[in-house]
Amino acid sequence: MTHVVCDPCNNCKYTDCVAVCPVECFHEAETILYIDPEECIDCGLCIPECPVEAIFADSDVPEKWQEYTEMNAEKAADLPVITEQKDPIPTCPSLNK
Ligand code: F3S
Repeated sequence: MTHVVCDPCNNCKYTDCVAVCPVECFHEAETILYIDPEECIDCGLCIPECPVEAIFADSDVPEKWQEYTEMNAEKAADLPVITEQKDPIPTCPSLNK
């Protein structure tokens, strides 16, 4: 089991999730965060923190975002860990509603 960051994070990166993660499992790409399944302890704390509902337990990932489970595992391994919250991407669509 792990948790998975899905499409709504893309181009937003609110990073509220990072602030509550007890194990530093989030890794940062240019437009999205990914969770390292080797580090995630399935605490679920990040799920309610995400303003755009981008995070799911792997058993709950919606059908349309199934590829994100593998993508998180693959990409997280090569990206730097992010441990501190920062401002979201200013062009995030949900910020500008
Ligand atoms: Fe992304 Fe949501 Fe975290 S937008 S950075 S998964 S709080």
